[in-house]
Amino acid sequence: MVYFPRTGFPQPVRATHMPRIVRKERLHRDFLQIADYSAKEIDKLFSIAELMRAGKYKKKPLAGKSLAMIFMKSSTRTRVSFEVGAWQLGGHALFLSPRDVQLGRGEPIADTARVLSRYVDGIMIRTFAHSEIEELARYADVPIINGLTDLVHPCQVLADVLTIKQHLGGYKGKRIAWIGDGNNMANSWLNAAFVLGFELTLACPEGYDPDPMIFQRAASKAKVRIVRDPAEAADKADVINTDVWASMGQEEEQAVREKAFKGFRVDEAIMKRAKEDAIFLHCLPAHRGEEVTAEVIDGPQSRVWDEAENRLHIQKAVMAVLMGGERF
Ligand code: CP
Ligand code: NVA
Repeated sequence: MVYFPRTGFPQPVRATHMPRIVRKERLHRDFLQIADYSAKEIDKLFSIAELMRAGKYKKKPLAGKSLAMIFMKSSTRTRVSFEVGAWQLGGHALFLSPRDVQLGRGEPIADTARVLSRYVDGIMIRTFAHSEIEELARYADVPIINGLTDLVHPCQVLADVLTIKQHLGGYKGKRIAWIGDGNNMANSWLNAAFVLGFELTLACPEGYDPDPMIFQRAASKAKVRIVRDPAEAADKADVINTDVWASMGQEEEQAVREKAFKGFRVDEAIMKRAKEDAIFLHCLPAHRGEEVTAEVIDGPQSRVWDEAENRLHIQKAVMAVLMGGERF
């Protein structure tokens, strides 16, 4: 089955500047964005991940298989959870940084995709422009998994919703608050709201809204809104969620962003606006005293360590389905 294009955005199947090549029919699926999957499929991924978390999944669907992991940006959680996860499923993972591979010296993404497809059974990539992962997917003959782009961070938000299920019993009817930058995490939350249908309020400073097309698509199906007051977003929320003010690649904007995000720190006053049993999530790494106070992230409502652990379980579920023939 051909699953391209996957984004739902108005874009041609093949960009006109791309050479017209004859390609084999695509027999695999990629995981580039949550919005490319149905609620039924995402729920199935959660069920597999929950089995894995409970230690009840004994199969080794990646036996004899390899995952290439390309990291154009730093990582702790993504790198370790994918590598360990692939091994736990019977497979093997290779860590490739731009210093190690010719991609870092300008070898085209299309060539890298075609060559790696001859060696490995799946490619996980963390990179900058989302168009780069789309190009990789366009030319690869193996599943591509998104380990973060400037646009989205889908594995993280799946892990976050899994954490909500774990601690609040489900995501249906829950009110999620996002406080901070309209970044890759915010965009993935919008995609999750689009597919899963929960309520999402994003409090972002003016000029730092999420991607407008992703927002509009989510708003066409789910109750999502953007507000300017963090307290308004936090009101009676079940989940309070934030992220750093300057993402990877935006380091030089730090000073400007510190000014823009003043007042967007998650502190105890914000947590008090939420429901009594509300939980706090952060994808990590966190800057205590910046986007969140130490009292909140290290406090009783914080679930950030379970959230980080859930990266392992959900990514194993994604690899088992995409690379290991596990059924949805
Ligand atoms: N949350 C997350 O993706 O962490 P890393 O940058 O450490 O992979
Ligand atoms: N928004 C952050 C997430 C890090 C996991 C970044 O892109 O740097």
